[in-house]
Amino acid sequence: MRRKIVAGNWKMNNNFNQSMELIDLIIKNSKKESKCEIYVSPAYPFLKDVRIRCSSSDIKVMAQNVSHTNHGAFTGDVSCNMLQSIGVNSVIIGHSERRTFFKETDELLLNKLELCVENDFEIFYCIGENLEARKSNRAYQVIETQLNNTIFNISNINPKKLVMAYEPVWAIGTGLTAKPIEAQEMHHFIREKFKNNYNNDVSSNLTIIYGGSVKPDSAKDIFLQPDVDGGLIGGASLNSNDFSDIINSI
Ligand code: 13P
Repeated sequence: MRRKIVAGNWKMNNNFNQSMELIDLIIKNSKKESKCEIYVSPAYPFLKDVRIRCSSSDIKVMAQNVSHTNHGAFTGDVSCNMLQSIGVNSVIIGHSERRTFFKETDELLLNKLELCVENDFEIFYCIGENLEARKSNRAYQVIETQLNNTIFNISNINPKKLVMAYEPVWAIGTGLTAKPIEAQEMHHFIREKFKNNYNNDVSSNLTIIYGGSVKPDSAKDIFLQPDVDGGLIGGASLNSNDFSDIINSI
């Protein structure tokens, strides 16, 4: 059975008190039985406190980013080892906001992926096409290139330590969710590519989640798709009730 996951990416939102309030409410809501694993991703300064709060629950905590290198003169960066030292072993890599605003290239992302595999991190790896690519029927080509340039260069992929997140750039923060069938078709394509590049075992055990304007009223139809194993939630994860409704939609 593949893992089902709903993860909240808080992005650059919430100060310390707001982060504590939000996690307390999410923990309270999560006491009900849920059919998926739950992750939250607060900003760096609050990772440790949120992780400590979550130790009374099943909620897991991940970082929103990690450095491409282990240590040294890289002002502002945070390494795998630093995260591990506060009990955080999961990280989002390749988010389109990192690719766009911080100019993270496929080459840099491959570096990060390799380092995370070396450090035995659990990786949430984001890929997705922009609007121009979708409109010009190049979405599949873009996704294939992103895979070929990055993750497919790693030979020892453990599907239990990798979560692929399909996040079409045009759907992030825009209120434009992909149609369930669009998400399904792309997830199926990604799974087939993993089958061709690795094997059936990797592809059938790989969790592929969808991200991009998932809201309580759109979550259910997306999660019903056979190749969609959950969601990576931005805006709606900042509201504990909405996040909880999305978790309960799986
Ligand atoms: P929104 O849910 O706000 O569109 O963000 C999705 C996302 O980028 C999650 O990583």
